[in-house]
Amino acid sequence: MQIRWLGHSAFEITSDEDLKILIDPFISNNPVCPVTVEEVDADIICVTHGHSDHFGDAMEIANRTGAVIVANHEHSVFLSKQGLETVGMNIGGSIQIHNIKITMLNSNHSSDMDFIEEIGAGGSSCGYIIQLESGRKIYHSGDTGLFGDMKTVISDIYNPQIALLPIGDRYTMGPLEASMAVKWINPEIVIPMHYNTFPVIKQDPEEFARRVESINKETKVVILEPGEIYKE
Ligand code: NI
Ligand code: MN
Repeated sequence: MQIRWLGHSAFEITSDEDLKILIDPFISNNPVCPVTVEEVDADIICVTHGHSDHFGDAMEIANRTGAVIVANHEHSVFLSKQGLETVGMNIGGSIQIHNIKITMLNSNHSSDMDFIEEIGAGGSSCGYIIQLESGRKIYHSGDTGLFGDMKTVISDIYNPQIALLPIGDRYTMGPLEASMAVKWINPEIVIPMHYNTFPVIKQDPEEFARRVESINKETKVVILEPGEIYKE
């Protein structure tokens, strides 16, 4: 299994059975993304919400690769009308694609589809638990503020081993809140995201790492550069 960070909240997960799962494929307008849209491959694309820095190039990549797009019901209706294959779902539910189980979870954010002219209603923003063939679970929180479900639902029921959490502040949690999220979720590994893409979300990931170290020593902070891979 490997996780490649494409900058911002975009990740490419390659499963043990070699399935490619893209989350929030913000590629072409992402100033720190190391790859082009044409270079990206996918079997499954998960979109957390309708903001263009997350929805990104989902349609173009799905059109070219034939990947199925997993998204909330409202996005799914919109995408179906564009002729794309989608799996619509909603918060609290799970689906299975091949041997990958995907659960949609709450997030504390907004979700209008700002890539549509005049902005379309986009349903709720969300996070995902991606359970790989091995049973290992990756939690991608999407954009979110700190919220209590992390301490209860996400920790008690799903207990993900790997968490991908935003630390950029302003639009999401910053290092302070994200370090508390780590304490509540208590994953083995946390990878920070949604920072240093633009000047308004400039952050020092080392500050986040120090905060995690001081309140939850069991979790290892893995700081990636865009394009870098975490492998296990
Ligand atoms: Ni957003
Ligand atoms: Mn965002």
